[in-house]
Amino acid sequence: GTRPLVDPFGRAISYLRVSVTDRCDFRCVYCMPENMQFLPKAEVLSLEEIDRLATAFIRRGTTKLRLTGGEPLVRRGIIELVRSLGRHLETGALEELTLTTNGSQLTRHAADLYSAGVRRINVSLDTLDPAKFAEITRWGRLPQVLAGIEAATAAGLHVKLNMVALAGVNDTEVDAMLAFAAQGGHDLVLIETMPLGEIGVDRVDHYLPLSRVRADLETRLTLTDLPDSTGGPARYVRIEQTGQRLGFITPLTHNFCESCNRVRLTATGQLYMCLGQDDVADLRAVIRAHDDDQELDKALDEAITRKPKGHDFVIDRRAAAPAVRRHMSVTGG
Ligand code: GTP
Ligand code: 5AD
Ligand code: SF4
Repeated sequence: GTRPLVDPFGRAISYLRVSVTDRCDFRCVYCMPENMQFLPKAEVLSLEEIDRLATAFIRRGTTKLRLTGGEPLVRRGIIELVRSLGRHLETGALEELTLTTNGSQLTRHAADLYSAGVRRINVSLDTLDPAKFAEITRWGRLPQVLAGIEAATAAGLHVKLNMVALAGVNDTEVDAMLAFAAQGGHDLVLIETMPLGEIGVDRVDHYLPLSRVRADLETRLTLTDLPDSTGGPARYVRIEQTGQRLGFITPLTHNFCESCNRVRLTATGQLYMCLGQDDVADLRAVIRAHDDDQELDKALDEAITRKPKGHDFVIDRRAAAPAVRRHMSVTGG
């Protein structure tokens, strides 16, 4: 079928996030425990299966596709997958094909991503201090990521920077990051840490409400709210003094569920209707049992009827366990 997917609350699903692997070459402290257990490779969808599922969504109205992880660029064959999905850009069915990456492999892949049709990527960068970077990622190397960002920009990709705000860790670096972003022509997006998966410490210790960051910036700068243009969770402001855009992703202090346009597919073919809930539809089972897409279409229709009104994140009190047991790397944010 080609009928658009619309959920019971009237929200059209036009955006699919696909985690192509749960693996990552970093272990960011807010994301994973150091001894993170990854999925056995046999559980993971093949590239052909990912393509088949993404294509089914595109037929049903997905216009924006984002590949995530884990780290999407550590998946073997990732460029072939991006190239293959790029065919939907050529037909006009897909408006945007993007990635969210930690940047560690970008020097190698930037030019190929551009030639496959990618025009914009989001890169995680929480600090510009090499020692702190190594601390946050546990063993990542900052110069490698900075070189990746440069290579991407040189290849013609627009780079948006994602910075997870961590009290007592990088909260003093917002100005430095703003300057770095302005200099490179990048948008900067600040993100509140979300309670997904055990990480061995209580996230409340480093939780920083972005309302506080904004109030602090407003003592020095003029921030003008911009109308929502990306359809994403970030709310953007323009900083009048520099003209640059700054985004805030605040699921905890201000959720954006009523305009949610997205669903997420895991590396094992599980479809999550909401980042903040555990309800799932097993699309891998459906495609492995049926060679034509009729049953898959039915499964999509059925899954969308289960998209909840909103998430149930809380982080303002000490909880025995995170609200959601799986890690961000499973659903790719
Ligand atoms: P664009 O708006 O297309 O640039 O992308 P994005 O900001 O949606 O995607 P990105 O992968 O860069 O994600 C940035 C942060 O937003 C990550 O921490 C994600 O977990 C978070 N995020 C993305 N989608 C959602 C959502 O639907 N709900 C919540 N609570 N967080 C989300
Ligand atoms: N809360 C908020 N953001 C997170 N990310 C990973 N784990 C979390 C979390 N628990 C961020 C990464 C990346 C994006 C995909 O999600 O830093 O920028
Ligand atoms: Fe890897 Fe991204 Fe998680 Fe860091 S936040 S460990 S880079 S998946």
